[in-house]
Amino acid sequence: MKNANTKQDSKKDFVNNVFDSVFDKYDLMNDIMSFGIHRLWKRNLIDWLQPKKNSHLIDMAAGTGDLTKLYLERTNFDSKSCMVDQNFEMLNKGKKKLELYKNIDYFCAKAEDIPVKDSSFDYYIISFGIRNVSNIKKALKESFRVLKPGGRFMCLEFSKVNNEFVDHCYSKFSDLIPTIGKIVTGKKEPYEYLIQSIKEFYNQKELKELIKEADFSNIEYRNLATGIAAIHSAWKK
Ligand SMILES: C[S@@+](CC[C@H](N)C(=O)[O-])C[C@H]1O[C@@H](n2cnc3c(N)ncnc32)[C@H](O)[C@@H]1O
Repeated sequence: MKNANTKQDSKKDFVNNVFDSVFDKYDLMNDIMSFGIHRLWKRNLIDWLQPKKNSHLIDMAAGTGDLTKLYLERTNFDSKSCMVDQNFEMLNKGKKKLELYKNIDYFCAKAEDIPVKDSSFDYYIISFGIRNVSNIKKALKESFRVLKPGGRFMCLEFSKVNNEFVDHCYSKFSDLIPTIGKIVTGKKEPYEYLIQSIKEFYNQKELKELIKEADFSNIEYRNLATGIAAIHSAWKK
């Protein structure tokens, strides 16, 4: 157990250092690396969620707040969001970006240990965050705890490509990402981590299984761009 904790602490520190070094150029690099497609995928998630007015979202690993922005706009600002991120700089960047938006709480905290009461939220969203979390099982349990009964969990994350040709092109393009990162931000290592973490992450079915282990029901996923990314949806009964 002690070893597992040490391993998780060192992953947390490592991931925090990664985001400390990219927070300033995070949005720009996202647009460059995905040709802006990450914006469509985030819209896709909100389209599938169809958030109701007067609802309460927790945007976990919120970073610069793209999902909170889309959610508040989609509900005509008749809703509340709680942005949570373990990295102060990323959260602060999001806070500045959304300074004109009301109804947002900000917590610098970990997905594995959320400082809120049980059954607080209608929706839990984690977008391109779960891959970075040190203890995914614990984070999923926490997401279940903070959702109200009837609440919905949604996760957008890189996944496994199911088309050979796309896989080949994607893999060649991925090899270029650290060099592009170096040109745009002056740093290569955070983007080497990005590519490695995507390669090592669970496939669609494995992630579905982990979500099930956290007691969620009606778990479904949709592939985006032949599985480059996937959205998982699940419910707390
Ligand atoms: C790739 S960014 C995603 C930001 C945003 N959700 C988006 O889709 O653009 C990943 C974020 O996860 C945060 N993060 C990583 N591990 C975390 C954890 N255990 N708890 C909370 N946030 C975490 C990082 O600090 C970073 O801001």
